[in-house]
Amino acid sequence: MTAPPPFPPAGRPEGGRPRGLRTAYCGELRAGDAGREVSVCGWVARRREHGEHLAFLDLRDHTGVVQCVVDGAHDLRSEYVVRITGTVRSRPVDKTNESIATGEVEIGAQSVEVLSTAEPPPFGVDARGEADESVRLRYRYVDLRRDRMQANLRIRARVNAAIRRSMDRQGFAEIETPLLWTPTPEGAREFAIPSRLQPGSFYVLPQSPQIAKQLLMVSGFDRYYQIARCMRDEDLRADRQFEFTQLDLEASFVTQQDVWEMVADSVLEATREVTGEEPPAVVQMTWEEALERYGTDKPDLRFGMEIVSLDEAVRGSEFKAFAAPAVRAIRVPGQGSLGRGRLDALTERARLLGAAGLVWLRVVAAGGGLALESPVAKFLSAGEQAAIVSATGAGEGDLLLAVAGEAAPSCRVLGQLRLELGQPPVSERPYRFVWVTDFPLFEGLDADGNPVAAHHPFTMPHPEDLDRLESDPLSVRSQSYDLVLNGWELGSGSIRIHRADIQRRVFSVLGISEEEAESRFGFLLGAFRYGAPPHGGFAYGIDRFVAILAGEENIREVIAFPKTQSGADLMASSPRPLPARQLAELGISILEPPGRAPGGG
Ligand code: AMO
Repeated sequence: MTAPPPFPPAGRPEGGRPRGLRTAYCGELRAGDAGREVSVCGWVARRREHGEHLAFLDLRDHTGVVQCVVDGAHDLRSEYVVRITGTVRSRPVDKTNESIATGEVEIGAQSVEVLSTAEPPPFGVDARGEADESVRLRYRYVDLRRDRMQANLRIRARVNAAIRRSMDRQGFAEIETPLLWTPTPEGAREFAIPSRLQPGSFYVLPQSPQIAKQLLMVSGFDRYYQIARCMRDEDLRADRQFEFTQLDLEASFVTQQDVWEMVADSVLEATREVTGEEPPAVVQMTWEEALERYGTDKPDLRFGMEIVSLDEAVRGSEFKAFAAPAVRAIRVPGQGSLGRGRLDALTERARLLGAAGLVWLRVVAAGGGLALESPVAKFLSAGEQAAIVSATGAGEGDLLLAVAGEAAPSCRVLGQLRLELGQPPVSERPYRFVWVTDFPLFEGLDADGNPVAAHHPFTMPHPEDLDRLESDPLSVRSQSYDLVLNGWELGSGSIRIHRADIQRRVFSVLGISEEEAESRFGFLLGAFRYGAPPHGGFAYGIDRFVAILAGEENIREVIAFPKTQSGADLMASSPRPLPARQLAELGISILEPPGRAPGGG
């Protein structure tokens, strides 16, 4: 289980005064309210009998709980919805409860109205332990009553409000774009919706509003944003759902720097809103530097253990493995006492990650200085050992892990070990935002030997690299960038290609023929013929952002009605077969799924 959310749940929003059946909220009564006549409404959280007719009820609403003393026989069970009218009074000093905000008072009930009865809930709403997740998802409406889920979804609402504030302040217009649409260029598998009016044709749900927002730039909106629902049919993980939400923005006549500043304004505003603190400024690092120092393009800057080069320190060493093209190392502070079992397991892990091996070195005190203890220490001269200690900044009791081989894969292995050995839990602050810039335009080759777009095919190449587009495509940098928060990829964006000649060259390098480009993106390319401003933009995942702010490892915990790992909504029983009549109307007949016996269920 993750730590509880680091921030208290938001109280009611300003102006949300009680109305209707109630004159007060449960969680807001304090000693100063003693003597007030109030009506409160909520769910029975707990009931304790006191003698034959007296009962203590904890009544819960969205603001918290308050104790009510009820006299007389009432059938009041857990999760009944009741309205209690009575007088707020101070509790005797020895009966106060410091663990709740209303612990100094109670309501002496004069009337109790049952508004709704309830069956026993499938799990205790106030239970400390977690119910099984499938049960929680099946009864999500009960699960969402719990403090933690209330806090998470309220954090999410405040993040959305803060984002809108920031966007509005910066002159962005919020514009909605279609959900029933056409393929978009993100490259994940798509969800398709059959058309009733044109049987055999399908709408495609957008993976993002990418094309629509570029069209809005051609239309002259200048600054667009949307808190946009996006749909991708991809394997679900802790940070992935089929349906998710982006803060999506695009602006005209801007540089990368402008986009970074506009996006930073919104994430910092939202972080401030949730934490009440000023987060550290967003820093910047090139993609190449991120890989060199952290072995990943999503570096977690909350902790050190950076990758360092031992190339100088071990040059000419008699230890054969160190004759590799590159030797890289990390320092694991204070872990010099790890036993052989753990070290062997780490070596195994490094091999699994693709390293030829792992060299471990314990930093120990020796003769007034420091020396290295390791099966390979005997091959390292005193000078080499001192140079390794100095290059890594190691101290007594530290553990050094080194990988020799090609630089890039060695850094990747060490970057992963760094996370496994040192990454703090999600709930641990501070929030370290970093722009990772200058991504390559292409990543690797596809089966046909064509370069693959690293971001999407509309990404503008780096102007300094444009002349190598055809001759050495894999060396071309792009004007694209990611925003990373505490080791999570929050979002990506780029300056787009607005010139037909450059777009044609990029399509050609990608192996996308003119016909294919026309059939996939024709309406965007067509629009560009009517005056496209230079433009660029960005999108970040609000689910991921809120999960981090709420200290949750899985974005399911910040989504009201998420899907399970296997893509099901257990509460709504979706997906589900459709009646034959409906299928016929859509012009669809279902093939027997592979592996299912004919006539089987
Ligand atoms: P990209 O595909 O990188 O860029 O997506 C941007 C961000 O959206 C979030 N995200 C997801 N969150 C939850 N579940 C998913 N399945 C999922 N997929 C993506 C991530 C990711 O960083 N149109 C471009 C942006 C642009 O160029 O302006 C785009 O969508 O946080």
